[in-house]
Amino acid sequence: MITDVMRQEIGEILARYPEGRQRSGILPALYVVQREFGFCPVEAQDELAEILGIAPAEVGAVVGFYNMLHEEPKGEYHIEVCTNVPCMLRGGNQCLHRFESALGIHHGEKTEDGQFALDHMECLGSCGTAPMAIVTDQKSGAIRYFENLDSAEDVGRVIELLKAGKGFAELARWTPQADPESEGAADTPYRTGGMEPRYLMARLNEPDSHKIGTYEADGGYETARRVLGEVEPADMVEQIKASGIRGRGGAGFPTGIKWGFLPQGVFPRYLVVNADESEPGTFKDRIIMEYDPHQLIEGIILSAHAIESEKAFIYIRGEYYFAYTRMEAALAEASAKGYLGDNVFGSGKRLDVVLHRGAGAYECGEETAQLSSLEGYRGQPRLKPPFPAVEGLYAKPTIVNNVESICNVTHVMRHGVEWYKGFGTERSPGMRIFCLSGNVKRPGLYELPHATPLSELVDEYGGGPQDEGSAIKAIVPGGLSMKLLKPDQFDTPLDFESVTEAGSLLGSAGVIAIDERTSMVEVARRTLGFYREESCGKCTPCREGTAWLEKILLRIEEGQGRGKDLELMEYIADNIAGKSFCPFGEASVWGLQSNLLKYREEFSAQIESSNPDEVVPELPIRPAYRPDVHEPSGLRDSTIAPSGGNIVLHDDLVSADD
Ligand code: FES
Repeated sequence: MITDVMRQEIGEILARYPEGRQRSGILPALYVVQREFGFCPVEAQDELAEILGIAPAEVGAVVGFYNMLHEEPKGEYHIEVCTNVPCMLRGGNQCLHRFESALGIHHGEKTEDGQFALDHMECLGSCGTAPMAIVTDQKSGAIRYFENLDSAEDVGRVIELLKAGKGFAELARWTPQADPESEGAADTPYRTGGMEPRYLMARLNEPDSHKIGTYEADGGYETARRVLGEVEPADMVEQIKASGIRGRGGAGFPTGIKWGFLPQGVFPRYLVVNADESEPGTFKDRIIMEYDPHQLIEGIILSAHAIESEKAFIYIRGEYYFAYTRMEAALAEASAKGYLGDNVFGSGKRLDVVLHRGAGAYECGEETAQLSSLEGYRGQPRLKPPFPAVEGLYAKPTIVNNVESICNVTHVMRHGVEWYKGFGTERSPGMRIFCLSGNVKRPGLYELPHATPLSELVDEYGGGPQDEGSAIKAIVPGGLSMKLLKPDQFDTPLDFESVTEAGSLLGSAGVIAIDERTSMVEVARRTLGFYREESCGKCTPCREGTAWLEKILLRIEEGQGRGKDLELMEYIADNIAGKSFCPFGEASVWGLQSNLLKYREEFSAQIESSNPDEVVPELPIRPAYRPDVHEPSGLRDSTIAPSGGNIVLHDDLVSADD
């Protein structure tokens, strides 16, 4: 089944990985299979197992784990609409219904001619341009982002482009405003709210910002060339320690201190760039890789020098296909100039960079799960200690750093420690890319110093509430996992310490604003739906507990909640947080715990109004979809039944406010 041509391509992919570690190439090899057949047939899986020298069941286990690998054919175009919370707040569910109406199918189905398959999806790293969808062209395996799909016309235009075979004429982000055939088409890569970016986002809106010429014209690669010739690795580690850079992926751990954990004299060492950005509300790394990939590559060269690594991996989120192609082209440009390879800048040092695509698994953002995935296994976490710095990829010392963290390294080495510490606070130095989404007028990316007040970000840069008559009642300050802040906390400075003091965490700086039009029960239910879907299945509390919580929240929404449900949910949440293998457990319930604490009256009111006699309902196994509950009339319908639920189309609703 696997042809000679495919075998050759797979062979070339496997050769990118260290000798004896060819299993690492299983995901890219499966992408070759899926591109050829439209899915991963069992026969092809068996042949791939033979090529890799592993059991067929091991390939099957990998295919079954990752969302982007299919065991059955999808349509010619696979459309996936994001309905996670930040998109939901801006009409993501309605956008999905518009696709359903336009295609005449429900989500989870395929059109009769097999041209289109439709699904709803978790956060796709495009929350600032919601509502949005991605489309996969099954023939080429290419994925394109379609953003700002605010109306039925926008959705219709997407389908029209696809039907005409024009949807994949290029891969750049598509928006109605940048559609070449729309009036006043503007090819602006990304909105920055008119603010003046300092350094991380400085080039995003320049023409050809992704090309090496643009980067070098701005002084790019001069720092890496100088540092590799002049600065000893140990000295560089000390400088990064002194700068106080803290990880931008979520945990905020100091980068230099992490580097200092590497055991002396143990080689090889690996650098893994965590580009698996999946925390709902976070979309900064994607834009850096799409529009300024050389900034990241220079940071990788510098970081690899500091930790004395000759092999780096960029683990990029599978859905970030455009970013993948941009990174691939940028790596080729840098290699052609001798900035990567056997003799980096003529320094005699070697550095190979492997670009590795994930395949749709939130858990792979956790560093040990990411290493499992990179080794060719299911993306499940490992016990710590040993920490990756001591025993990571292939059981060798490994540093895993986030994209934005590594970009900061370049700027510290270029401008100096004192310059860097001039931004932000003593313990949270530097600028930060805040990802603002939800119910504000101007969602987008804002590069601001740490300790910028939350209210300044939301009101000044974000333009305040999206709807003049609806105040913002809750804000998630650091990605969907984090605890909610109430209005009396909106002046909290956005630095690690202040947000912690306010009872939440700065996390990945994904700031999600929620206004008064939104039901907090719905926010909780959709959040738990995400964690139920994304649990890697390793720990019982996460795997079972998130599903129980979602079911309880669904029955409350359906008018069958009981007063006792609130305590029951608190009890379950307490038995998930801190009881799982990795931080997923805490992350899955922090939002709910704070929601129940701060917005309890909304939960109680919904239960009291819909089930005043406290009739004890059966806990549904697969809750039925009830249009009267799930699609209330008005501006936004906002609930999507779980995939496979009994959904019905509502043309009247879809057309109500078009
Ligand atoms: Fe939809 Fe992030 S892209 S929530």
